[in-house]
Amino acid sequence: MHDGELSILDQTLLPHEEKWIVVHSHLDMIAIIRRLAVRGAPLIGVAAALSLAQLAESGASAAQVVRAAAELREARPTAVNLMYAMDRLSPLATHPAKLVAEAERLFDEDVDLCESMADEGAALVRDGDNLLTHCNTGGLATVGIGTALGVIRRAHEQGKRIHVYVDETRPLLQGARLTAWELSKLNIPYTLICDNMAATLMRDGKIQRCFVGCDRVAANGDVANKIGTYGVAVLAHHHRIPFHVVGPRTTFDANTATGANIPIEQRSADEVRGGKSPTDAHVFNPAFDVTPAALITSIVWGREL
Ligand code: MRU
Repeated sequence: MHDGELSILDQTLLPHEEKWIVVHSHLDMIAIIRRLAVRGAPLIGVAAALSLAQLAESGASAAQVVRAAAELREARPTAVNLMYAMDRLSPLATHPAKLVAEAERLFDEDVDLCESMADEGAALVRDGDNLLTHCNTGGLATVGIGTALGVIRRAHEQGKRIHVYVDETRPLLQGARLTAWELSKLNIPYTLICDNMAATLMRDGKIQRCFVGCDRVAANGDVANKIGTYGVAVLAHHHRIPFHVVGPRTTFDANTATGANIPIEQRSADEVRGGKSPTDAHVFNPAFDVTPAALITSIVWGREL
């Protein structure tokens, strides 16, 4: 955000093009969130907050701001950070200056929460560990250094000699496009794998620990995260490999009893067809899955809110 102008890096074009898009309205932001130009649970909460602040600052009425918050809240259904951010800002609709300050607070808090998760999670990593991660949970998915990838980054900064196996993360390749891009910028050694290669690596003793992010943690500790996370957790359990979820407390949803109650976003068939299958192939494309609490070794929360 600069002089009232809000711009975001279009993640759909990464890693080959770094293009910033100017966001003119909350409707722009909804479209941007839906097409995953901005993505990652913490980031979509903060991005929606900044967009609402922009609207409040522009002189919109309180009723318009409340309506926009409700619309932004619906942009994607699974990551609760989006709902959390809108629920914090919406009651301030009659006080634009306070709403803007609160949006800025959400931004700063996210940076700080990432730092504390990084410190807490890095303590779990041993020198020489090979780690596995899924999807993208780094600086692109938050406004700080990331959640699971923030932990990996901190362990590397601490001088631990780690190697990261990066699941490519079908169908939209957040691992291959975004995590690989971030790790190479950070000079952290990594190997990109197809999602179906993790089992072989685990059997061969090549992975000591898994770190993944989360989009919503239910009251019983079940976790929704990028589709494929559940499979990694099952494999890790089978091979007795610790499986850690990393997410800020803004991802905890006390109002959702179990993972079965978490709404799972279904996305378009073309994302799976990818131009390679028959154009009319029937497709199943849930964007997230739920990992039961029993398969999770620990959740790295970082500090209290
Ligand atoms: O559909 P996406 O790319 O928004 O999904 C993102 C994930 O599943 C991440 O693992 C999660 O949001 C945590 S990001 C810190």
